[in-house]
Amino acid sequence: MDNSLFALGLMSGTSLDGIDASIIKSDGENYLDIIDNKYLSYPVDLKKRLSYFINQINDKNDINENIGIYKSLEREITLYHAQISRNIIDKNKCKIQVVGFHGQTIIHKPKDGYSVQMGDANLLSQTLKQKVIHNFRANDIKNGGEGAPLTPIYHKLLTTKFPTNNPILILNIGGISNYSYCYKDKLIASDVGPGNVLIDEYLKKTKGLHYDKNGSIASSGNINQNIINHFYEHEFYNAKEKHSYDRKEFDFSFVRGLEFEDAIATLTYFTALIISKNIQKRIRDEVDIILCGGGRKNLTLVKHLKKLLNSKIKLIDEFNIDGDFVESQAFAYLSIRSYLKMPISYPSTTNVNAPVTGGEIKINY
Ligand SMILES: Nc1ncnc2c1ncn2[C@@H]1O[C@H](COP(=O)(O)OP(=O)(O)O)[C@@H](O)[C@H]1O
Ligand SMILES: [Mg+2]
Repeated sequence: MDNSLFALGLMSGTSLDGIDASIIKSDGENYLDIIDNKYLSYPVDLKKRLSYFINQINDKNDINENIGIYKSLEREITLYHAQISRNIIDKNKCKIQVVGFHGQTIIHKPKDGYSVQMGDANLLSQTLKQKVIHNFRANDIKNGGEGAPLTPIYHKLLTTKFPTNNPILILNIGGISNYSYCYKDKLIASDVGPGNVLIDEYLKKTKGLHYDKNGSIASSGNINQNIINHFYEHEFYNAKEKHSYDRKEFDFSFVRGLEFEDAIATLTYFTALIISKNIQKRIRDEVDIILCGGGRKNLTLVKHLKKLLNSKIKLIDEFNIDGDFVESQAFAYLSIRSYLKMPISYPSTTNVNAPVTGGEIKINY
């Protein structure tokens, strides 16, 4: 298609696992060609420093008071973004016209008017000699939105690739979970609770592990139903008006004292329960559920979701879309839409007052 652009999307999610990069070709509307995807894991040491830094930051002031560390981490992660970008661009030998650079979320407080993504777009633009779009969430928040989730408009485009006329719910399980409900012209979206964050944080704090590979630890433990019953009534998880989350809002301390495997089993079931109850509260009709994000590889979590949601659940990979890269593709798509001044968020996806575009362009070469 002649009016299509080649875009590179870069996403580093709340799990702090690393950077996903995708090149797509799109007109920002219905045409889509996914060219390539690539992943670069953050070095363990960087992961630790990022996680430690994020844990110290409780508001914008904390960032100002620690601006030296912020800037040095920012430079470091930006250079990793440059590295993976060069890699995927060189491999594909295509002429990128715009780069969508999400950056690493440090704090997300839309109710206080901000969401901070670490990442130096000027430096990335200079290093890559590319136009870089960043700060995707600010305009949405300025217009009364939650600044999240932003991927739904891309999810809607993806549904045209699925051979079904039923309502579709795309459920992304990253550090935090979010869904997009797509049916005809309707697009409804929200964060929906924890994803891998409770499980990963517990593993990190108790054993220095990053995640429960394939959900095998969870499958070897017993679920503590008393704890589940007690905590699932917690108002935080049931708050109706809750539309987006900061990863630090999730606290695993309610499983303290349990045997290690039982704690993981309980956190995994708890995560599935919150996701399914919140979906069921908001979406009443029968839907085909399609999973993406790293959490879809946690087989125990997926097993619980299948049972609790009582819907058809498939992995997005079954439709030839790599479920690890939906978000990086989405930020490539959003960068094209942003570049063309098209809306990227809607009242039904972020609670914004009206459909708005978003992202700021940096050209520094
Ligand atoms: N094989 C696996 N088994 C279980 N969980 C996994 C597996 N692979 C990845 N994950 C989980 O997915 C996370 C990464 O998912 P991702 O979609 O990148 O989340 P985010 O957008 O928050 O970065 C990892 O931190 C881990 O919790
Ligand atoms: Mg990730």
